[in-house]
Amino acid sequence: MLGFGVGLRAVHYPDILERIANRTLCVDWFEVLTENYMVDGGRPLRVLDDVRASVPVVLHGVSLNLGSTDPLDDAYLEALVRLADRVEPAWISDHLCWTGVGGTQLHDLLPLPYAADVVVHLADRIRRVQDRLKRRIAVENVSSYLSFEADEMSEVEFLVAVAERADCGILLDVNNVFVSAHNHEFDAAAYVDAVPAQRVFQIHLAGHSEQGPLLIDTHDHPVRDEVWALYERALRRIGSVSTLVEWDDRIPAYDRLEEEAQRARLAAETTKPSAAEGSRVVAR
Ligand SMILES: [Fe+2]
Repeated sequence: MLGFGVGLRAVHYPDILERIANRTLCVDWFEVLTENYMVDGGRPLRVLDDVRASVPVVLHGVSLNLGSTDPLDDAYLEALVRLADRVEPAWISDHLCWTGVGGTQLHDLLPLPYAADVVVHLADRIRRVQDRLKRRIAVENVSSYLSFEADEMSEVEFLVAVAERADCGILLDVNNVFVSAHNHEFDAAAYVDAVPAQRVFQIHLAGHSEQGPLLIDTHDHPVRDEVWALYERALRRIGSVSTLVEWDDRIPAYDRLEEEAQRARLAAETTKPSAAEGSRVVAR
C-alpha cells in the first residue's frame, strides 16, 4: 500500500520539486508514464531521479501491446528493464488491450474480443513479459466503445480469467468500469464485486465526459460523484489499496490535483472494509 498518488507531469515539475524540498508534498507516490522516460538523458530523467530519491514511483506504460498478434517488442522490453533498474518502481503496469499491428503503433488503447483463445494469448504474453522483467506486472481494464460478435464472456470475466491464468496483478480503473458500464449497459457494481481483491495492486480514478449517448474516458475533468461512490464500493471489498488520480488533458494547477488525491485519501479513511483483508498477490 503506497497511499495516494498522482501522475508525474512536466507542467508540474517545479511545483513537485519545490514541495519535496520544503517537505510539503501531500501525495505519497507518483505514477510515471513509462515511454516518456525511456531516454538516455535530459531534464525529465533528471527530475525523475530527484523525485524517486524521496518518493516511491510506479511505471505505467501504454505500449506493451499485450493483445496484439505482433511479436513482443524486444527493444521496448530491453528499455523497460533498463528504466526499471534505474528507478526501482514499486510495480510496472500496462493495459489489457492492443495498440498496434504489423509493426505500426496506433497510440490508442484498443479493445479485444472477450473470448477464451484471447485469454490464452494474452496470458501467455503477460507471462513472458513477467519472466523478462522478473516481477509480476499489473494489467489495467480499459474503457471501450464497441463490442465484438466474437465475445464469449463479460468484460470482468475476461479480466479475471487473464489475471488468474497469467498470475499477474490488476490495476482496477474504476472510472473505466463506470464508462464502459454506461456504454455497454452492464452493472458497474457487479463488475467491481467480481474482481479478485487479492490481485488488485492499484486503483485509478479519473474524470470522463459525455458525447451524445456515450461516456468518453477523457481524463479532463474532476472525478464524478458516481465514480467516487463506485470507488468506495471497491474499497469496502478490497480494503486499503494504492490509489491514483489521473488527469491528462486540460491539466489543472498542481494544488487542484493534490486536492483530488486528498479526496481519495479521505474516502479511504472513512470507508470500512466489509471483510478481513486476505493475503495479497505481490509484484515480486
Ligand atoms: Fe487508468
